[in-house]
Amino acid sequence: MVTPAPRPIAPASGTLGVLCVGLGAVASTFIAGVENARRGRAAPIGSLTQMGTIRLGRRTENRTPLIRDFVPLAPLESLVFGAWDPIPDNAYESALKCGVLDRHEHVEPIAAFLKGITPMPAVFDQQYVKRLQGVNVKAGKTKRDLAELLRQDIRAFKARHGCDRLVMVWCASTEVFIAPGPAHQSLAAFERAMEANDPSIAPSMLYAWAAIQEGVPFANGAPNLSCDFPALEGLAKEKGVPIGGKDFKTGQTLLKTVIAPMLKARMLGVNGWYSTNILGNRDGEVLDDPESFKTKEVSKLGVLDHILQPKLYPDLYGNIHHVVRINYYPPRGDNKEGWDNIDIFGWMGYPMQIKVDFLCRDSILAAPIVLDLAIFFDLAARAGMSGIQEWLSFYFKSPMSAPGLYPEHDLFIQLMKLKNTLRHLRGEDLITHLGLEYYD
Ligand SMILES: NC(=O)c1ccc[n+]([C@@H]2O[C@H](COP(=O)([O-])OP(=O)(O)OC[C@H]3O[C@@H](n4cnc5c(N)ncnc54)[C@H](O)[C@@H]3O)[C@@H](O)[C@H]2O)c1
Repeated sequence: MVTPAPRPIAPASGTLGVLCVGLGAVASTFIAGVENARRGRAAPIGSLTQMGTIRLGRRTENRTPLIRDFVPLAPLESLVFGAWDPIPDNAYESALKCGVLDRHEHVEPIAAFLKGITPMPAVFDQQYVKRLQGVNVKAGKTKRDLAELLRQDIRAFKARHGCDRLVMVWCASTEVFIAPGPAHQSLAAFERAMEANDPSIAPSMLYAWAAIQEGVPFANGAPNLSCDFPALEGLAKEKGVPIGGKDFKTGQTLLKTVIAPMLKARMLGVNGWYSTNILGNRDGEVLDDPESFKTKEVSKLGVLDHILQPKLYPDLYGNIHHVVRINYYPPRGDNKEGWDNIDIFGWMGYPMQIKVDFLCRDSILAAPIVLDLAIFFDLAARAGMSGIQEWLSFYFKSPMSAPGLYPEHDLFIQLMKLKNTLRHLRGEDLITHLGLEYYD
């Protein structure tokens, strides 16, 4: 095999500004976790960039460096944080209100640091998130004016903190469902629609547009469209900016994208998959609105079809009842409980069932994803990669992919794609797992 040349990657020197849209449970848990890790008070568990290794060469070579020693990644010490939120709470107040972290163990010891992160006024419109009321919001005549104000915020933040580079991660509420329409097909149509205050332009699209215009990579942690349409994909390519989404893959969908490939690998049939959740945080409250839930539902439902390929296997997967529910249940706070009942069938059609009860913590699962996305999107930018970053599908429930290409949902294919991309960047042989060379 011919070893490819390593790709030039600009060094990860200086300061990386991480701009979070939304300073709620996920963002405050992410920021507090990074600061606790920097002070040696907690370990960054769940983060591939901090704890993961990568095998290089043959299995007999015993070369498995840490990923962060293999590719030049921004170190935790170099991160500074900014945020926008229509709720004016600083990161300390938000962490306490969201109640994810232990106050005495992980919030009070870094209180001064967290109090220093106050949200910039948001571009927010209640039409798109019905259950929230914003007071810390920008005013502007047109959506374009608002997006220009975001661009000013980005530049001001960069100058104030002496940042060498920036990344933006959408950690804000799930917006109402919007299908791509005429305004999303070209940049000219999109910009005209911004100026005309077209309702098909949601706030998340304005953040994405502003980020791309400023050369800032944009990752979308919620299922709303944001930058998942031709106008902004084209702009990202033109400006050389990496983009990606959608929707952090954390709890139930993470399990689904492991269990479903297993069933398919063994050619076991599925005729029903019922997934339900109880969740009591603000995200649960927002998703209690049918229009925001619809956005989430579409993101969660797509997974099985792509993995099980019912058209290829009509006898096994041609008639699945797939149901997803999220129930807002305040007593649980951020500690989500997700149940799955999977009706499967095996040899000669005999039925069986799998039951899963995942007692998880939503923001604890999401925080390391925010960190990895910030760090890998920054790597992508320094490596000159632009447009959709399919190699980061690993982190998303509903990964963006090139037009005409179905997304890859299987977690282990996604991981292989991610690691092979890193090998490719560094000029190492890709690992195919063929392995015949050990037996020749
Ligand atoms: N935690 C998980 O496991 C998980 C998994 C996948 C996706 N997500 C998504 O991540 C997002 C954040 O989740 P969370 O639990 O932190 O929710 P949260 O409600 O605690 O925080 C979201 C914050 O976004 C703010 N916001 C809403 N619209 C905004 C706007 N236009 N501009 C700036 N800020 C805005 C809200 O005021 C709120 O403070 C949600 O969309 C959620 O669906 C979370």
